[in-house]
Amino acid sequence: VYWFCGETAIIQRMSINNPVIAQMMAHRSIRAYRPDPIPDGWVEAIVAAGQRAATSSNLQMYSAIAVKQPETRAALAQLCGDQRHIAQAPVFIAWIADLARLDRASVLRGHPHVHDHVENFILATVDVSLMMQNAALAAESLGLGICYIGAIRNNAREIVELLGLPRLTYAVSGMTLGFPAADPMLRPRLPMRAVLHWERYSAEAPDSALAEYDQAMIDSGIYEGRQVPVPGQAGVMEAYGWTEHSARRVRDPQRVTLGGVLRDQGFDFK
Ligand SMILES: Cc1cc2nc3c(=O)[nH]c(=O)nc-3n(C[C@H](O)[C@H](O)[C@H](O)COP(=O)(O)O)c2cc1C
Repeated sequence: VYWFCGETAIIQRMSINNPVIAQMMAHRSIRAYRPDPIPDGWVEAIVAAGQRAATSSNLQMYSAIAVKQPETRAALAQLCGDQRHIAQAPVFIAWIADLARLDRASVLRGHPHVHDHVENFILATVDVSLMMQNAALAAESLGLGICYIGAIRNNAREIVELLGLPRLTYAVSGMTLGFPAADPMLRPRLPMRAVLHWERYSAEAPDSALAEYDQAMIDSGIYEGRQVPVPGQAGVMEAYGWTEHSARRVRDPQRVTLGGVLRDQGFDFK
């Protein structure tokens, strides 16, 4: 097993005796699934593990929508960038940031509910994010594969319709769930010195860490020998690495209608 980070030896030693860390270190997104159904009760166990995550002030600003029906999964696949694994996996879970339940509590208790500040949006988004990662880990520990589906935000208005999302909710991410039909490699992660800072934020050596990571990703074969021009040097080519991949990913605005859908759902960013 190849874990790419500056502390590889320590983590390998810990993982041998610690099944939780070992499970975490074995994570890969699974994009091919066997048709076998998920056994009864497993989705409930996975969501229960999600619910045990810490949650801001115990407010539990989340919901999970588990979808088994093939027609709905096919519609989801189409709305989420035609991703084949969504239709193929026996279960899809939409992870929902949910302030609707608190809104009801506010009505029941006769209090106003402020939900148009960025803080409220972040609270709900963080809560469901922690929940879904706990759930992902639980699923993987049962031998299932998962793949997050951020593309659930591609067509947010249609997703509101399809899943019947009420005001004060939105889908943060989807997740495919099923028994893996593939055994993909672990994707290298950034060297730890690019990620872990001690005491204060340190900008020291990020370029060397990025260069090292570019090489690790190129060596992994993920980019299949792609070449790109060296910036500022016309006609000179070099291997396509993570910095090129990631810079391309953020050079254009993404999901430009999402802000409007969120506002229509009752969220705002004051
Ligand atoms: C919030 C989120 C959304 C994602 N959306 C998608 C997606 O729509 N489709 C997909 O195939 N993978 C998606 N991924 C998976 C990432 O591409 C993947 O985690 C990353 O490339 C690292 O690979 P690994 O998970 O195999 O280590 C998403 C991951 C996260 C955390």
